[in-house]
Amino acid sequence: MAREFSKVAVVGLGTMGAGIVEVFARNAIDVVAIEVDEAAVDKGRGVLQHSTDRAVSRGKLTAEDQAALHARVHFTSSMDDVADCQLVIEAVPEHLHLKKEIFAKLDAVVGPDAILATNTSSLSVTEIAVATSNPKRVVGMHFFNPAPVLQFVEVIRTVVTEDEVFEDVKALAQRLGKQPVVVGDKAGFIANALLFGYLNHAVAMFESKYASREDIDAAMKLGCGYPMGPLALMDLIGLDTAYEILDTMYKQGRDRLHAPSPILKQMVSAGLKGRKSGRGFYTYAEPGSSQLVDDALTPAAAAGEHEATRTVRTVGVVGSGTMATGIIEVFAKAGYDVTYVTRSQPKVDAVTAAVQKSLEKAVQRGKLTQEARDEALGHLTGSTSLDDLATVDLVVEAVVEDLAVKRALFENLDEICKPGAILATTTSSLPVVECAAATTRPDDVVGMHFFNPAQVMKLVEVVHTVSTAPDVVATVQQVCADLGKHAVTCGDRSGFIVNALLFPYLNDAVKMLEANYATADSIDTAMKTGCGLPMGPFELLDVVGLDVSLAIQRELYLEFRERGFAPAPLLEHLVTAGYLGRKSGRGFRTYA
Ligand SMILES: NC(=O)c1ccc[n+]([C@@H]2O[C@H](COP(=O)([O-])OP(=O)(O)OC[C@H]3O[C@@H](n4cnc5c(N)ncnc54)[C@H](O)[C@@H]3O)[C@@H](O)[C@H]2O)c1
Repeated sequence: MAREFSKVAVVGLGTMGAGIVEVFARNAIDVVAIEVDEAAVDKGRGVLQHSTDRAVSRGKLTAEDQAALHARVHFTSSMDDVADCQLVIEAVPEHLHLKKEIFAKLDAVVGPDAILATNTSSLSVTEIAVATSNPKRVVGMHFFNPAPVLQFVEVIRTVVTEDEVFEDVKALAQRLGKQPVVVGDKAGFIANALLFGYLNHAVAMFESKYASREDIDAAMKLGCGYPMGPLALMDLIGLDTAYEILDTMYKQGRDRLHAPSPILKQMVSAGLKGRKSGRGFYTYAEPGSSQLVDDALTPAAAAGEHEATRTVRTVGVVGSGTMATGIIEVFAKAGYDVTYVTRSQPKVDAVTAAVQKSLEKAVQRGKLTQEARDEALGHLTGSTSLDDLATVDLVVEAVVEDLAVKRALFENLDEICKPGAILATTTSSLPVVECAAATTRPDDVVGMHFFNPAQVMKLVEVVHTVSTAPDVVATVQQVCADLGKHAVTCGDRSGFIVNALLFPYLNDAVKMLEANYATADSIDTAMKTGCGLPMGPFELLDVVGLDVSLAIQRELYLEFRERGFAPAPLLEHLVTAGYLGRKSGRGFRTYA
């Protein structure tokens, strides 16, 4: 029988602590809520009031329940008030010396059976435990931000934690409606160990001006279905906390990719800690607010002058695969005349049939009117000759991902297309500049990286090379807007924004599995329920295909020469064995 908890304490009422207090109070458990001084206590009380007021105004909590919830919380600045609590959770800033000091104090105040838990994200629970007289009763109980919303809790068991203790804490997490996963004491545990490499990489992209903060965030939201972009998430986590987590992870693993990006330290020193201070990567209406306000980096304010654009009415699409078919449909639906070129008449017919079928499905689902379908069909012209692209304003190629094939195609387009035509490649991994260099007009060449399925996915990465003309970029951005797509703009580097941020994280998950730190199920659960991602890394790898993922990871490794980007040996072995994911019936999991 798991222990019944009726009274607990939370020490530190900041970003996490205040939310943890609410979680307990909502579940009919009395809470002693402790802060350093009266002012901080008031602030913590204010956070709980604000949060429950919102729940009441949204009809998720009645006024009586709100009153009962508040009555369960005793706010104080005296540590002595924890004396009769069965469990204390510490959520003070991420500094080892501070946590050790607090645990030593708590140890002296609580009863002999009380459990002491830390909400640390990265510090060694073992080191914190040994600051007490009885390390066996110390565990990690790592909630996720915002604690009342996210359903995941990592329970960290050190080599000395008593079985009963972590079993009781696990059962308590379940009672709170959370999904607990028990893991060993390693910096970052599951979720942060995988998340923070990705976040730090996004910060480095921003710092190097590879892409704007808005574009980095939009790319991950629209390209991967993440609930928030990485920089907005850093602001939510708090840049000071994020810095400490990265620093601890770096010191433990010496992985360069965890060394905090230099700009983080500068921002923290300048007091730009994210939402809690009113400013981080973005600017907020006031400290603690989630409401964004414009600042000097906001695109509308920053873009004083508007770049001239070229006129695009007619479009050529080269290719006959999934991407080409989707792109043809997207242009035709937006009213562009589309000439699509494939290598044989049967392929032209197949593409025409595929577009017709897809439009028909849209009509049946009520997403498209019959008139709109007919109009789109009226914009289509199939051809087997590239010469038919002589007069188009824009060509988008989506042929096989093979540089020799693409270069030969660009040489041909260079000879055929009219002066001023924009030549775009939808490559996801090859250098756009290689396509540009195959022509005599590299300034007209640009990347237009659509996502699959192109009809559905809103994101297009617009990739400029060192030679792309600014008006070409501006024109393609404008065309994307006409297509109802969201364009993000970045330089010509392997992986662009999305794949460069996504695949190293997936690769890290494979390495974690390989190291036997956690199972594929636990890792998938952590990332889905702890970070709100639409799929866990292993689910996603199996969908994308292990061979495709390995190829992308190899490209990234070759381009950046980062040791941490080296493909996980387990990924290589699975591909060698022919376990490619869903398409082959087996990958990280086996399919019927
Ligand atoms: N921010 C996140 O997204 C997140 C998520 C999970 C876990 N964590 C972990 O939770 C812990 C707290 O992080 P946070 O982001 O809430 O930090 P925070 O800075 O928002 O809040 C920390 C609070 O602790 C208080 N405090 C400091 N010393 C204290 C003391 N001696 N007694 C009582 N209160 C004291 C501070 O006044 C402050 O209000 C850290 O260990 C962090 O790694 C953070």
